[in-house]
Amino acid sequence: MKHIHFKEIESTQQYLKQELSSLIKGNTQILISTDRQTHGIGRKDNHWVDSDGSIAFSCLMPSTEKLSLVPLWLSLTLKDFFKRNFDTEIQLKWPNDLYFKEKKCGGVICHKVDDFIIVGIGINLIGKPQKIYDNLNQVGHLEIDINILPKNFKEEIPLQIYHHITNSPFIAEEIPEHFKDQCLFMGKMVKISDETDVTQGKFVGIGEWGEALVKDESSDNVNKIYNGSMRIKNN
Ligand code: BTN
Repeated sequence: MKHIHFKEIESTQQYLKQELSSLIKGNTQILISTDRQTHGIGRKDNHWVDSDGSIAFSCLMPSTEKLSLVPLWLSLTLKDFFKRNFDTEIQLKWPNDLYFKEKKCGGVICHKVDDFIIVGIGINLIGKPQKIYDNLNQVGHLEIDINILPKNFKEEIPLQIYHHITNSPFIAEEIPEHFKDQCLFMGKMVKISDETDVTQGKFVGIGEWGEALVKDESSDNVNKIYNGSMRIKNN
């Protein structure tokens, strides 16, 4: 495999996208990690700000028919990785947010390019960004003991995660049920907003394409929501 680690780069995601055609010559197992990103890209083209205690990397995966299940599968795989290796319970928020103690500590993005998916993962392991975020009080971090992390953890942990991902089977039929069992807010009243719509109702399941199933309380209709940002409905 090809693992390139930078001291600093704008965005591992952008780099892998831009350099894809030259990087894949002869080798499609690619991992790009970095100590620091200056222009990290988040979901919906938001900024992703990292810190001294975070990891940021992008890797290449073959594309699959059920692309929309990939972020859910990756989230489950990351949860398993941190449980096994650090005895740390990450919480999963549909569709691709990683939470710890009710705060967002990381996320996953996926971009399809030709026959590949460029996967981007950012996780705050031991401290949240110092830079002022609009929603800084909603940003958190895992509480991994720095003493058990290797010195070069920003290079080493992405490599370990990459191996964990590539050794985890993608079984499309099982992902919705697994995610349903593990994700936050299941059975609760939620609001899901995207650029144009807000859907409210009871979060009752995950569909075969990874969509959130949200039951309208007045009509009992179950709506399928494919995209958006979920939060708990407070009133
Ligand atoms: C999110 O918004 O929740 C997703 C965050 C994922 C950011 C990662 S960090 C490594 C990779 N490079 C980027 O520029 N973005 C992704």
